[in-house]
Amino acid sequence: MIRSVVQGCGAYLPERVVTNADLARKMDTSDEWIQQRTGIRQRHIAADGEFTSHLALKASQRALAHAGLNASDLDLIVLATATPDETFPATATRVQAELGMTRGAAFDVQAVCAGFVYGLSVADSLIKNGLASTALVIGAETFSRILDWDDRGTCVLFGDGAGAVVLRAEEGTGSSADRGVLANALHSDGRQHDILYVDGGPSSTGTTGLLRMEGKEVFKHAVVNMAAVVGEVLAKAGFEAKDLDWLVPHQANKRIIDGTGRKLGLPPERVVVTVDRHANTSAASIPLALDVAVKDGRIKKGDLLLLEGIGGGLAWGASLVRW
Ligand code: ACO
Repeated sequence: MIRSVVQGCGAYLPERVVTNADLARKMDTSDEWIQQRTGIRQRHIAADGEFTSHLALKASQRALAHAGLNASDLDLIVLATATPDETFPATATRVQAELGMTRGAAFDVQAVCAGFVYGLSVADSLIKNGLASTALVIGAETFSRILDWDDRGTCVLFGDGAGAVVLRAEEGTGSSADRGVLANALHSDGRQHDILYVDGGPSSTGTTGLLRMEGKEVFKHAVVNMAAVVGEVLAKAGFEAKDLDWLVPHQANKRIIDGTGRKLGLPPERVVVTVDRHANTSAASIPLALDVAVKDGRIKKGDLLLLEGIGGGLAWGASLVRW
């Protein structure tokens, strides 16, 4: 049985760091309010002229170097983003050109904060079906460009960044001891559009629009849907929560992350948390968190990881990966 095995990972954060105290100097908010509600202490913000593709390219180059592979080895790029450089073409094709990859396919996936899990599932499916053999899966965002900086209820929550993993087809035994992506579960519920969306677009207003959110409603759905989807993906692969080495969740809010960890019965030291430093980077948050925990030596070859995320759509999902 073909498995999509992670060969390496990489990440990139813009240089500019904006702390809660920096925000409190510009708007009616406080470090205490932001930390208590979300766990966020700071976020990275892209410079003028620094686009989603630039962040994605740097993360991709680092992931390829970590994997010991070249762009010429790739035959697929799946880039998860809700903040593309342009309406079209796909930002993935810009990354393809900048990397110097001249074969295969490159396209974007749009599932907002669930984007990385969606992208990973798509790449895994294409690899398993023989349509690709070596894939770059990227989550990259410049959410700072779609924030309403006059809305303190949303603008304090997000940051910019990118992360990437390289997957390669390898022959597995089909057992749960295999390395690679072991199971995926994806869901969406379009009825919940109005609780988290951007109020513009090429076909509706002709403008880019800004992010709108009913935070309390999103919070409620996040807790319920995350609990369900992690149970679903574990059952699919024949695991129980106690088998997990690491939970690497979407980094939206420390309280949502803690709630999911508690539901799984995982001690906090088995949950990777970066929301304090990165804030919510949407599709980039899972690969950014992965990169931190791999590079600091916590996540090791053979560890069992549960990745999960939820965002606008609503769209949500989870993946089980043996590193
Ligand atoms: N600083 C200070 N006060 C603020 C701020 C701020 N930045 N923002 C809102 N407030 C005030 C409000 O005006 C309100 O004041 P009032 O009581 O005088 O009216 C008060 O704080 C409470 O506001 P709520 O919006 O009710 O605050 P809540 O406790 O729900 O926390 C939050 C808001 C943090 C957004 C929370 O609802 C949440 O975490 N929701 C999850 C949403 C999320 O994480 N979304 C990310 C995208 S989706 C995803 O990735 C899962």
